Amino acid sequence: MKSYLLLIHFKLHSSFSRWKYFIYPNLFSRAKYSCATNPIYQQKTEITGVGRITIGKNCGFGYRIGGFWRNGSIEFQARYKDAEIIIGDNVFTNNNIFICAANKISIGSHTRIGQGIMITDFEAHGTDPENRNKVGEIGTVDIGENVWIGNNVTILKNSKVGKNTIIGTGAIVNGVFPENVLIGGVPAKILKSL
Ligand SMILES: CC(C)(COP(=O)(O)OP(=O)(O)OC[C@H]1O[C@@H](n2cnc3c(N)ncnc32)[C@H](O)[C@@H]1OP(=O)(O)O)[C@@H](O)C(=O)NCCC(=O)NCCS
Repeated sequence: MKSYLLLIHFKLHSSFSRWKYFIYPNLFSRAKYSCATNPIYQQKTEITGVGRITIGKNCGFGYRIGGFWRNGSIEFQARYKDAEIIIGDNVFTNNNIFICAANKISIGSHTRIGQGIMITDFEAHGTDPENRNKVGEIGTVDIGENVWIGNNVTILKNSKVGKNTIIGTGAIVNGVFPENVLIGGVPAKILKSL
């Protein structure tokens, strides 16, 4: 009974508090999540969907001096039952991030994620005009270790980014990229080796 009341308190409190930052499931979320160690939160960070979210050690979400901090939020959404988001160790994000998986999105350890980022592994709508109301193609996203994702980057389904690669600000990533390169632009291309 006591733990049930505590759970209600936690859910209500975290849902309506703007000034305390910790990860919390949306009031109606049935998502399963686990954190190896408690991350540092500097922006409201929400778990939604019904899938699984796994977070490694020593991660940090949000950055008070990173811009657009006050009114935004971070959301990890494993939308369907078998969807998963896997975040490695020592992953740090800036503010206003939306990571949405219908299948699988993985982010390697030591990756730094800028502000205003969307990562998704599926098309919410069919590209065929007759099927616009159906979920479109579903793929995966695989971000390697020690990747630096600049501000305002979008990463689309079936993208793979190799270890140490930098994604320049404003890129739309839609493809497979090797380790140790700088990529950027719309759509992203290799700009140079690191
Ligand atoms: C990628 C970045 C770090 C610059 O790295 P750099 O090694 O100094 O790259 P360079 O300036 O040598 O650029 C190499 C080439 O890529 C191009 N380029 C660099 N960044 C680019 C971008 N975001 N989009 C498109 N092209 C870009 C340059 O114009 C240059 O092209 P050129 O060879 O035809 O002249 C910087 O452009 C960037 O995007 N920083 C992210 C900043 C940010 O978002 N910070 C938030 C903190 S998380």
